Amino acid sequence: MRTPFIAGNWKMYKTVADAVKYVKELRGLVKDLDAVEVVLAPTFTALFAAAEAARNSNVGIAAQDLHWEREGAFTGEISGQMIREAGATYAIVGHSERRSLFGETDASVNRKVAAAFAAGLCPIACIGETLDQRERNETFDVLDRQITQGLDGLTAEQIGQLVIAYEPVWAIGTGRNATPAQASEAHGHIRSRLRQWFGQEPAELCHVIYGGSVKPENARELLSQPDVDGALVGGASLDVRSFLQIVASARRDEAL
Ligand code: PGA
Repeated sequence: MRTPFIAGNWKMYKTVADAVKYVKELRGLVKDLDAVEVVLAPTFTALFAAAEAARNSNVGIAAQDLHWEREGAFTGEISGQMIREAGATYAIVGHSERRSLFGETDASVNRKVAAAFAAGLCPIACIGETLDQRERNETFDVLDRQITQGLDGLTAEQIGQLVIAYEPVWAIGTGRNATPAQASEAHGHIRSRLRQWFGQEPAELCHVIYGGSVKPENARELLSQPDVDGALVGGASLDVRSFLQIVASARRDEAL
C-alpha cells in the first residue's frame, strides 16, 4: 500500500522568516501523523532554514528544481549535492512553469531526474498536457512521451522510489481542477504504462500524485480516486491551515 504523499509547492513565495514560521507551525500540527507523507518545497534561499526547522519531524523538504551537474560554471544554478547538503531530501523536476517559462524539455528533465537520484534526492517528476493537447485528444500521447523521454534509463528500483506528479497544465493556478474522473483516467493510464515499461513491482511502488488547483474543498474526492496517491499543491499550500486540511483529507482513517 502506498502511503499518501502531499507536497506543497510554494513557488516564488515566502521569505526565510515566513518559511521557518510555517514549518514550525506545521511540524507541531502533524507530529503524530504517520499515515501521510508531508513535504514542502520552499525557494532555494529558504531551503536550509526550512530544513533546519523541519529536522526530526514528519515534514520533508523539497527543492523546486536542480541543475544536473554536481558543480561548475553555471551561473545561477544549484546542484543536487548542494540541495542535499542544505537538508532537502526531494526535488521537484520539470514543473510545467519550468517547461513553459524557462525552456525545460523532456531531455533536461531526464538529466535532472538522474542527477537527483545521484545526489540522494527523491525526484518529484511533473508531467501533464496543455489544454490544446487535451482538446486535440493528445493527452495520453503527451504523457507517454514525457514518461519515455523524461524517465529514460531509470532502473526499476528508481521507478519504485520515484514520485510522478500528473499536473494538467490547464488546471495549474487556474482554480479549475481536473474532475475526479479525468484525474483517475490519467493516473490509471500512467500506472499501466509504468507496468508495461518498467514492470509490475516498480509500478505498484511508484507514487503518482495529482496537481492543479487542489484545495481543501476538492481534495478528498480527488484523493479517493484509485491510483491517485496524493497531491502537489500550489496556491492552497501557502496557508498552513488550508494545507493541513488537504493533508487531513489524504488520511485513510480518521481526520486530524
Ligand atoms: P496550484 O499549483 O495548486 O496553485 O494549481 C499546483 C502546482 O503548480 O504544482
